[in-house]
Amino acid sequence: EFDEEDALVIIGEHKHLEGPLLPILHAFNHRYGYITDAAVRVVAHELNLSRAEVYGVVSFYHDFKREPHGRHVLKVCRAEACQAAGGDAVAASIERALGISFGETSPDGAVTLEAVYCLGLCATAPSAMLDDRIVGRLNEARVEKLTAEARL
Ligand code: FES
Repeated sequence: EFDEEDALVIIGEHKHLEGPLLPILHAFNHRYGYITDAAVRVVAHELNLSRAEVYGVVSFYHDFKREPHGRHVLKVCRAEACQAAGGDAVAASIERALGISFGETSPDGAVTLEAVYCLGLCATAPSAMLDDRIVGRLNEARVEKLTAEARL
Protein backbone atom coordinates (compact mmCIF):
# COMPACT_ATOMS: atom_id res chain seq x y z
CA GLU A 1 0.00 0.00 0.00
CA PHE A 2 1.18 3.48 -0.83
CA ASP A 3 2.09 5.47 2.27
CA GLU A 4 2.94 9.14 1.99
CA GLU A 5 5.53 9.22 4.78
CA ASP A 6 7.26 6.21 3.41
CA ALA A 7 7.20 7.81 -0.03
CA LEU A 8 8.77 10.98 1.33
CA VAL A 9 11.63 8.92 2.77
CA ILE A 10 12.22 7.31 -0.62
CA ILE A 11 12.13 10.71 -2.30
CA GLY A 12 14.56 12.07 0.30
CA GLU A 13 17.00 9.28 -0.49
CA HIS A 14 17.09 10.21 -4.17
CA LYS A 15 16.43 13.91 -4.22
CA HIS A 16 20.11 14.85 -4.28
CA LEU A 17 20.69 12.93 -7.52
CA GLU A 18 20.86 14.68 -10.79
CA GLY A 19 17.64 13.68 -12.54
CA PRO A 20 16.00 12.14 -9.47
CA LEU A 21 12.62 11.41 -11.07
CA LEU A 22 13.42 8.08 -12.71
CA PRO A 23 15.25 6.57 -9.73
CA ILE A 24 12.37 7.63 -7.48
CA LEU A 25 9.77 6.10 -9.79
CA HIS A 26 11.80 2.89 -9.97
CA ALA A 27 12.00 2.78 -6.19
CA PHE A 28 8.23 3.30 -5.94
CA ASN A 29 7.55 0.63 -8.51
CA HIS A 30 9.78 -1.75 -6.61
CA ARG A 31 8.22 -0.97 -3.25
CA TYR A 32 4.54 -0.77 -4.19
CA GLY A 33 4.43 -2.74 -7.43
CA TYR A 34 2.82 0.16 -9.29
CA ILE A 35 2.57 3.95 -9.37
CA THR A 36 -0.58 5.40 -7.89
CA ASP A 37 -2.06 8.84 -8.47
CA ALA A 38 -1.10 9.69 -4.89
CA ALA A 39 2.52 8.79 -5.65
CA VAL A 40 2.50 11.01 -8.73
CA ARG A 41 1.10 13.89 -6.70
CA VAL A 42 3.75 13.58 -3.98
CA VAL A 43 6.66 13.29 -6.42
CA ALA A 44 5.45 16.21 -8.51
CA HIS A 45 5.15 18.34 -5.42
CA GLU A 46 8.53 17.36 -3.99
CA LEU A 47 10.43 17.83 -7.25
CA ASN A 48 8.57 20.95 -8.33
CA LEU A 49 7.26 19.31 -11.47
CA SER A 50 3.77 19.38 -12.88
CA ARG A 51 1.73 16.20 -12.53
CA ALA A 52 1.48 16.04 -16.30
CA GLU A 53 5.28 15.86 -16.51
CA VAL A 54 5.39 12.99 -14.04
CA TYR A 55 2.53 11.13 -15.76
CA GLY A 56 4.35 11.61 -19.04
CA VAL A 57 7.41 9.81 -17.72
CA VAL A 58 5.36 7.07 -16.06
CA SER A 59 3.50 6.27 -19.25
CA PHE A 60 6.62 6.43 -21.41
CA TYR A 61 8.37 3.60 -19.56
CA HIS A 62 6.56 0.28 -19.82
CA ASP A 63 8.18 -0.95 -16.61
CA PHE A 64 5.97 1.36 -14.64
CA LYS A 65 2.57 -0.05 -13.87
CA ARG A 66 -0.34 2.23 -13.15
CA GLU A 67 -2.47 -0.45 -11.55
CA PRO A 68 -1.87 -3.40 -9.29
CA HIS A 69 -1.24 -6.77 -10.87
CA GLY A 70 -3.41 -9.77 -10.29
CA ARG A 71 -2.08 -12.61 -8.13
CA HIS A 72 -1.01 -14.28 -11.36
CA VAL A 73 0.35 -12.72 -14.50
CA LEU A 74 -0.33 -14.56 -17.73
CA LYS A 75 1.86 -13.42 -20.59
CA VAL A 76 0.79 -14.61 -23.99
CA CYS A 77 3.08 -14.26 -26.98
CA ARG A 78 1.47 -12.34 -29.82
CA ALA A 79 4.51 -12.16 -32.08
CA GLU A 80 4.88 -13.66 -35.54
CA ALA A 81 6.04 -17.23 -34.98
CA CYS A 82 3.33 -17.77 -32.39
CA GLN A 83 0.70 -16.17 -34.59
CA ALA A 84 1.68 -18.38 -37.48
CA ALA A 85 1.20 -21.39 -35.22
CA GLY A 86 -2.41 -20.47 -34.41
CA GLY A 87 -1.70 -17.87 -31.74
CA ASP A 88 -4.62 -15.64 -32.69
CA ALA A 89 -7.20 -18.30 -31.94
CA VAL A 90 -5.35 -19.25 -28.77
CA ALA A 91 -5.23 -15.62 -27.62
CA ALA A 92 -8.93 -15.19 -28.31
CA SER A 93 -9.86 -18.31 -26.40
CA ILE A 94 -7.71 -17.21 -23.45
CA GLU A 95 -9.52 -13.86 -23.37
CA ARG A 96 -12.84 -15.67 -23.55
CA ALA A 97 -11.95 -18.13 -20.80
CA LEU A 98 -10.76 -15.39 -18.45
CA GLY A 99 -13.46 -12.90 -19.41
CA ILE A 100 -10.90 -10.10 -19.79
CA SER A 101 -8.89 -8.54 -22.60
CA PHE A 102 -5.16 -8.10 -22.91
CA GLY A 103 -3.93 -5.42 -20.56
CA GLU A 104 -6.67 -6.12 -18.04
CA THR A 105 -6.85 -7.69 -14.60
CA SER A 106 -9.79 -9.88 -13.63
CA PRO A 107 -12.20 -8.11 -11.25
CA ASP A 108 -11.45 -10.62 -8.47
CA GLY A 109 -7.73 -9.78 -8.77
CA ALA A 110 -6.77 -13.33 -9.76
CA VAL A 111 -4.96 -12.68 -13.00
CA THR A 112 -3.52 -9.98 -15.23
CA LEU A 113 -3.41 -10.83 -18.92
CA GLU A 114 -0.50 -9.36 -20.87
CA ALA A 115 0.49 -9.53 -24.51
CA VAL A 116 4.21 -9.98 -25.06
CA TYR A 117 6.21 -9.98 -28.26
CA CYS A 118 8.38 -13.11 -28.39
CA LEU A 119 9.30 -15.01 -25.28
CA GLY A 120 12.21 -16.66 -27.09
CA LEU A 121 10.14 -19.84 -27.20
CA CYS A 122 9.25 -19.83 -30.86
CA ALA A 123 10.19 -23.52 -31.17
CA THR A 124 7.22 -24.40 -28.99
CA ALA A 125 4.80 -21.82 -30.45
CA PRO A 126 2.23 -20.74 -29.52
CA SER A 127 3.85 -19.95 -26.20
CA ALA A 128 2.86 -18.29 -22.97
CA MET A 129 4.14 -17.82 -19.46
CA LEU A 130 2.10 -18.12 -16.29
CA ASP A 131 4.05 -16.31 -13.58
CA ASP A 132 7.51 -17.89 -14.00
CA ARG A 133 6.37 -21.01 -15.75
CA ILE A 134 6.63 -21.52 -19.48
CA VAL A 135 3.80 -23.17 -21.36
CA GLY A 136 4.28 -24.08 -25.00
CA ARG A 137 2.37 -25.74 -27.83
CA LEU A 138 -0.85 -24.20 -26.64
CA ASN A 139 -3.99 -25.86 -27.89
CA GLU A 140 -7.57 -25.86 -26.62
CA ALA A 141 -6.89 -28.44 -23.91
CA ARG A 142 -3.82 -26.61 -22.63
CA VAL A 143 -5.59 -23.26 -22.72
CA GLU A 144 -8.34 -24.74 -20.59
CA LYS A 145 -5.86 -26.02 -18.03
CA LEU A 146 -3.79 -22.85 -18.07
CA THR A 147 -6.72 -20.49 -17.63
CA ALA A 148 -8.13 -22.66 -14.84
CA GLU A 149 -4.82 -22.32 -12.98
CA ALA A 150 -4.66 -18.59 -13.68
CA ARG A 151 -8.08 -18.09 -12.11
CA LEU A 152 -7.01 -19.63 -8.78
FE1 FES B 1 6.25 -16.29 -29.73
FE2 FES B 1 8.84 -16.14 -30.24
S1 FES B 1 7.21 -15.49 -31.46
S2 FES B 1 7.86 -17.02 -28.55
